[in-house]
Amino acid sequence: MAPQEAGVSIDQSISSRDVDVKALRQALGTFSTGVTVVTTATPPHAMTANSFTSVSLDPPLVLICVRRDAIMHGCLSMTGHFGVSVLSADQEGEAKHFANRWRTLGAAQFEEGAWRPGEATGVPLLENAAAWFECELWRSYDGGDHTVFIGKVLSVHRRPDADPLLFCQGRFRRIAPQPSEVAG
Ligand SMILES: Cc1cc2nc3c(=O)[nH]c(=O)nc-3n(C[C@H](O)[C@H](O)[C@H](O)COP(=O)(O)O)c2cc1C
Repeated sequence: MAPQEAGVSIDQSISSRDVDVKALRQALGTFSTGVTVVTTATPPHAMTANSFTSVSLDPPLVLICVRRDAIMHGCLSMTGHFGVSVLSADQEGEAKHFANRWRTLGAAQFEEGAWRPGEATGVPLLENAAAWFECELWRSYDGGDHTVFIGKVLSVHRRPDADPLLFCQGRFRRIAPQPSEVAG
């Protein structure tokens, strides 16, 4: 059955030969994600990223996609390790801070929030996050205007009671309380 027959309205269709960037961004924005802050120690740098994805359990691999013109792109190309802090629901401020291209750079960009050096690599990890990964850069691949960086996970920790920060349709969101939580 064609989608129209099933009562689904298609806002805009895109041919792969002539992709409208705005329509592409809007369609991709319907894919909800968590939010992470990716960090390096040498040089000290951090960047908000929602392209974080699990790749493999054996070996343990994760990926992030970083714009070629981001400062983080140069940092990752320079260093062998990176950290990923998966933000919790109350870390929207940190997500905005590390996405702000006008923020102070270098070690000073970490002054706003609490962080600690990772035990395996020394990369900065944000306190109060929901989970933390320390990675060794494993491979990198051409991804058009981004580069896909794959990291081998060296250490992983999580805060079991933390709710994640979400990002959908260009906005930060949080999980709505379940009915039982509202009642109780
Ligand atoms: C929710 C959110 C997710 C983002 N995800 C990514 C991402 O996955 N990759 C990327 O290159 N930029 C991403 N950005 C944009 C960067 O955070 C932003 O361009 C930042 O200023 C780049 O930092 P830098 O150039 O100082 O390294 C995201 C921004 C936001 C708000």
